Amino acid sequence: MSPTVIGFIKTSLLSLAVGVVLGVLMALRVLPDPKAALYITSAHAHINLLGAVMMLIFGVGYHILPRFSGRPLHNEGLSTVQLWLNIIGLAGIFISLLAAAYSTADLLRYAVAPFGALYAVGCVLFAWNMWMTISGALPAPTPIKPAAKPPVSE
Ligand code: HEM
Ligand code: HEM
Repeated sequence: MSPTVIGFIKTSLLSLAVGVVLGVLMALRVLPDPKAALYITSAHAHINLLGAVMMLIFGVGYHILPRFSGRPLHNEGLSTVQLWLNIIGLAGIFISLLAAAYSTADLLRYAVAPFGALYAVGCVLFAWNMWMTISGALPAPTPIKPAAKPPVSE
C-alpha cells in the first residue's frame, strides 16, 4: 500500500473510533448541556460519514481501482494533496460543529463552510483523478471457456 492509502485508512479508523464513542456519550446523555444539541448529532454524523465511511472509500478506491483498470493512478501527487485537504477539512468540520453546539456565533457559516469547502475540493480531486485513471481502463480478460466435449462415436 502507498503511504497515501495508509493515511486515508488510518484517518478512517481513527474517525470510526471517535464517532462511535461520541455516539455512545450522546445516547448516555453525559455531555455538558448544549445550546444546540442538533450540532452534536451533526458532528457525530459527519465524523462517521465523512471520516470513517468516505476516507475508507478513498483509501480502498486509490488502492484497487487502478489495479482493476490495469492502469497506474493518473496523478499520485494529487492523491496526497487530497489526503491533506480532507484531513484538515474533516478535523475543522468536526471541531466547528462541536463548538457550534456550545456557541451563539454563526460557526456554520464562518467555520463549517470554509473547512467544508476544503473537504469538497479534496473530493473533486478524487473524482478527477479516478475519472482519468479509469478512462484508460483495459478491457476485462476474456473468461476461459471449457473445451467442447468431443462427439460421442457409436
Ligand atoms: C456505537 C455506535 C453508535 C452509537 C451509540 C450512535 C448513537 C447515535 C445517537 C444517540 C444519535 C442521535 C439520535 C437522535 O438524537 O435522534 C445518532 C445519530 C446519527 N448517527 Fe449514530 N451512533 C453510532 C454509530 C453510527 C455510525 C457508525 C454512523 C454512520 C456510519 C452513524 C450515523 C448517524 C447519523 C447520520 C445520525 C444522525 C441521524 C439524523 O439525522 O437524525 N452513527 N447516533
Ligand atoms: C463538504 C462536506 C460536507 C459538509 C460541509 C456538510 C455539511 C452539512 C450541514 C451544514 C448539515 C446540516 C447540519 C445541521 O443543520 O444540523 C449537514 C447535514 C447532514 N449531512 Fe452533511 N456535509 C458534508 C458532506 C456530507 C456527506 C458526504 C454525507 C454522507 C456521506 C453527509 C451526511 C449528512 C447527513 C446524514 C446530514 C443530516 C444529519 C444531521 O445533521 O443530523 N454530509 N451536512
